[in-house]
Amino acid sequence: MKIVLLPGDGIGPEVTEEARKTLEAVIPGLSFEEHAIGGIAIDTTGKPLPDATIHACKSADAVLLGAVGGPKWDDPNAKVRPEQGLLGLRRALDLFANLRPVKVFPALAELSPLRLERIEGVDILFVRELTSGIYFGEPRFRETNGGVTRAVDTLSYTDGEIRRVVQLAFRLSRGRRKRVTSVDKANVLESSRLWRSVANEVSKDFPDVALEHHLVDSCAMRLITHAKQFDVVVAENMFGDILTDEAAVLAGSIGLLPSASLGEGKNGVYEPIHGSAPDIAGKGLANPIGTILSAAMLARHSLGNEEAAVRIERAVERVITDGARTADLGGKLSTSQMASRVREAL
Ligand code: IPM
Ligand code: MG
Repeated sequence: MKIVLLPGDGIGPEVTEEARKTLEAVIPGLSFEEHAIGGIAIDTTGKPLPDATIHACKSADAVLLGAVGGPKWDDPNAKVRPEQGLLGLRRALDLFANLRPVKVFPALAELSPLRLERIEGVDILFVRELTSGIYFGEPRFRETNGGVTRAVDTLSYTDGEIRRVVQLAFRLSRGRRKRVTSVDKANVLESSRLWRSVANEVSKDFPDVALEHHLVDSCAMRLITHAKQFDVVVAENMFGDILTDEAAVLAGSIGLLPSASLGEGKNGVYEPIHGSAPDIAGKGLANPIGTILSAAMLARHSLGNEEAAVRIERAVERVITDGARTADLGGKLSTSQMASRVREAL
């Protein structure tokens, strides 16, 4: 099995290194190959997603990514941006579904700004559409006419693009509490009205799964007030982007949360949902758990190794319960100390 490592920028290299060691500890004989993406790739090749990286990722069994971006490349008018590497990779591999599980560790519940009774037992799987919607719609441009500057982005979906991601959400809910919440803004947007009608159609094939529709604004509110009610939440690209950052607060630290980006095949891109955190980069302060749990998802979804995935997840739960804490969790452990604790627990 070949795994491509894309450490990227900021804390990316520190956390991917620890996740790689974790995978090696659980699954012997994996081969790893490192490639450039994001700002570092712009610096070395002029492109945020070099061809060599795309080719390597396409022929890999799975891709483990750290993070992209940083102040060095943060010119809003720049033609090339690190984020284009990430968006381009999702698109090149046709990874239309982004899975973001949000689970509250009981031992960390006090870190959440929300009251205990609001977050205890929260266990949500977000399924975010990842390769269409307003992130990729055409036309997109900026023009100036008669002293007025206008910028245009397009929010577009085909029924097929909606169907495949909603179907996946339903399939995944069957291994959980069999409840799908479809998020839209159907009271305003045409694309959302199509989204809702396709979700209704798909639900006919899953009579054992309950479907509810939520408007995105009220969903944002209910994530804070009634998070426990959600099982699987499926949303278009930008709604999912926003709601998953919001939901990360429930868990106490964004440093804990993993993600998997999947397409039709087995290959996928696995990455923590946190960013490159340039302020703490290179200091050994980053929490490696989000990336280590992403490695567990990699074992589950791309390598078909459920046992390895569960072992990693249990080891993480164990060290958290035993009080292992990085700085974001109010503790003193460094990135590598935290990861070593996980490997000891394994
Ligand atoms: C994410 C990030 C990316 C996104 C950015 C870095 C382009 O926020 O993975 O959620 O918006 O998809
Ligand atoms: Mg985001």
